[in-house]
Amino acid sequence: MKTSIEPFKIKTVEEIPITTREEREIYIKEAFFNTFYLRSDTVTIDLLTDSGTTAMSSKQWAHILDGDEAYAGSRSFFKFESILREITGFKHIIPTHQGRAAERILFSVISKPGLIIPNNTHFDTTRGNVEFSGATAIDLPTEIGTKPEIPGDFKGNINIPALRNLIENYGKENIPLCFITITNNTGGGQPVSMENIRETKKLLNEYGIPLFLDCCRFAENAYFIKLREPGYQSKTIMEIVQEMFSYADGCTMSAKKDGLANTGGFIGTNDTDLAEKLKVNLIVTEGFPTYGGLARRDLEALAIGFREVLNENYLAYRVGQVKYLGDLLMEANVPILVPTGGHAVYLDGARFAPHIPPHQFPGQSIACEIYRVGGIRVVEIGSVMFGRKDESGNFIPASMELIRLAIPRRVYTKSHIDYVAEAIIEVYQNRDSLRGMRLTYEAPLLRHFTAKFEYV
Ligand code: F0G
Repeated sequence: MKTSIEPFKIKTVEEIPITTREEREIYIKEAFFNTFYLRSDTVTIDLLTDSGTTAMSSKQWAHILDGDEAYAGSRSFFKFESILREITGFKHIIPTHQGRAAERILFSVISKPGLIIPNNTHFDTTRGNVEFSGATAIDLPTEIGTKPEIPGDFKGNINIPALRNLIENYGKENIPLCFITITNNTGGGQPVSMENIRETKKLLNEYGIPLFLDCCRFAENAYFIKLREPGYQSKTIMEIVQEMFSYADGCTMSAKKDGLANTGGFIGTNDTDLAEKLKVNLIVTEGFPTYGGLARRDLEALAIGFREVLNENYLAYRVGQVKYLGDLLMEANVPILVPTGGHAVYLDGARFAPHIPPHQFPGQSIACEIYRVGGIRVVEIGSVMFGRKDESGNFIPASMELIRLAIPRRVYTKSHIDYVAEAIIEVYQNRDSLRGMRLTYEAPLLRHFTAKFEYV
């Protein structure tokens, strides 16, 4: 059969809002031209994030009823811990309510002013937590990783020679650990190869620096390894993920992605001393170590989700749906980051609207227009999110001007994706009428969430 299908049927449906262009004109203005301020009941297709937006399976819902809400020693926790031990091999599995809680706890224990945390590319909350601890977050993508127009199999890789230089320059004693984010979200949802993880670990071993994975999308990463990396074609996804984690000393995870559930996260580590310190912080701020700020029924949903995500039919559909959208856009010459990644299609704003300079936020302008045309919510990942000013007040743009179309897991059908492509192609065909924007309000940290804009 040539036609690929969603590997599930639909048991429960949720109505989606259908609005008129005139209404959307008002809604986006009321949202200060920032898609984070839109009310979701004004959004027809919501591609703001793939985080916590998963449709859960009938099995997950069934186990939710069976959740054991005990404060301590809940059997739901032991199911959660058992599958995560099997996948990661880590001795200590410490639940948190979401990924950034895991990051905050880890960095408040291991980080302090003067230290350096390298990563292929920090996600914004990871960077925020590193900086909040007073340390410096350093991104080390490979050269091809910052070139949206050049295809490559593993554009999420960390730059190993640059990592060696960094360690030599700053000293191993100033680097408490090194992160690799799989897949590399900010770099376009691009995968990291097994070889890159293995070689990074080898390098870090020379200096005694632990390797941590930011593993929100570990299963999608493993599927790309299976598709693209020599030697992995006949391995199961479970075997691939187990090998990936075997090179790491620990991890933080937002389980709202490849945990296939609506909330959750965890820290994994083999270091018992570290685990004890993390648990003290956890108890003070999140909850007892057998629930970590989650309802125990959430742990049930995650225990099932972590198995379902390893299903190859699911992963083929998942990565295939993202590619399908990318292919529709490329057929119409819409510039996107290639190849498409695991969870999102990224429009290349710099080529989409070259008449808008980075300091007038081309990505923000494109995101607003996509909402106007189709009621579709997307997010800018460019100079609004990562642009900054140097000491003399000069604007430093982000390395890429991207607009992310993140696809929630198991939520939208092929016809929804066709609709999204049609709207974006229309925006692209009328791109000359897009106008630049300026900020009217920005917060000191993570400004993209609450920034307000007007047209230049
Ligand atoms: N790390 C990565 C790579 C992420 O993509 C995210 C979240 C986090 C950490 C933080 O996890 O949201 O559970 O606290 N990414 C979402 C996104 C929000 O839209 O990409 P969290």
